Amino acid sequence: MVKSIGILTAGGDSPGLNAAIRAIGKSAIRDHGWNVIGFKDGFRGLMQNRFVRLDSDALSGILTKGGTTLGTGRDKVHKMDVGGKPMDMSGVMLDTFNEHQLEALVCLGGGGTQRNALRLSRKGMRVVTLPKTIDNDVHGTDRSFGFDTALGVATEAVDRLHSTAHSHHRVIVVEIMGHNAGWLTLGAGLGGGADVIMIPEIPYSIDLVAESIRNRRTAGSPFSIVAVAEGAIDERLGRGLAALRLEYRATERVEGEQLKTRSRELFSGRLSTVEIAKQLSERTGLESRVTILGHVQRGGTPSPIDRILATNLGTASTDVIERGEFGVMIAARGDDYVTVPLEEVAGRRHTVPLDHPWIRAARSLGVCMGDNA
Ligand code: F6P
Repeated sequence: MVKSIGILTAGGDSPGLNAAIRAIGKSAIRDHGWNVIGFKDGFRGLMQNRFVRLDSDALSGILTKGGTTLGTGRDKVHKMDVGGKPMDMSGVMLDTFNEHQLEALVCLGGGGTQRNALRLSRKGMRVVTLPKTIDNDVHGTDRSFGFDTALGVATEAVDRLHSTAHSHHRVIVVEIMGHNAGWLTLGAGLGGGADVIMIPEIPYSIDLVAESIRNRRTAGSPFSIVAVAEGAIDERLGRGLAALRLEYRATERVEGEQLKTRSRELFSGRLSTVEIAKQLSERTGLESRVTILGHVQRGGTPSPIDRILATNLGTASTDVIERGEFGVMIAARGDDYVTVPLEEVAGRRHTVPLDHPWIRAARSLGVCMGDNA
């Protein structure tokens, strides 16, 4: 009997998803002679058995397309909204998998998807995952596809803001995505020449940021570009979170509903980017403006780097399935691709190490990182 595999895309969409779907599908058909189906709208489609056949025609012409042709969703397999109630539907998903007699299911997604895949794997489903996210925060892989494209968009925005900030002698605060990881902001800030870079990994002091802007003005540059991560936190919040983690003896794996709830409560006290800009204006006497890049960072054509990464990870996944290795994520390590057990990946976040060369380079250039270092 001809073997079949399934594919689904979950979490926020990301450039490179279609390149990955195409690579998995084409290598499954050409190298292995398998049938391929794609479930619609992530884990919800798996639960509802909504799928499309991915034959050569369906896989043609999608390499350069943004988003995901399969659709996506942010559902959690153990808390699916069914008639308004959260229900564990992983058993139903396993039924769909068995009904199609799938050899494996390839799940393309970020941190949430890795956790969902681990749950399904523990349930007995043969699962393989690929790391996708513009945030670049999936543990166990050097890179995730989507990041490079988003980095390009955010960097271009920082570039473009320079001439207008300069002309009007303004402080322009640009908010960049990344959830609780600073990769995108740090990369775009460094690549675009921001004067201040505020990332979640380094809690900031608004006074120090204002001081650096005043110093620039004194030195003859009466404008500044402030790249702020959507998850950036001030020192007070940073101390609060550190104390909370200590109280719960939380390790690298942030677990426990109570801890999550209390962290969320603390986060709700976070200064918004608009508030940051207002405070900087008050403290520097310069006019300020806010630019929130938002979902524009996730849209559109994937960069060549993302297409290549997604294509390589996709083709690697069918080899991993062929050799019968399941419950793993295919990770990029240097120029190579390795498998990492989902048990190691799920529940962890790849944030920017404080001694990362990008941080060291920014500091060497005199970029204010919001702290006293
Ligand atoms: O994880 C990708 C991401 O774009 C984050 O950077 C951002 O915090 C989040 O998704 C936005 O989610 P949504 O698309 O559901 O608004």
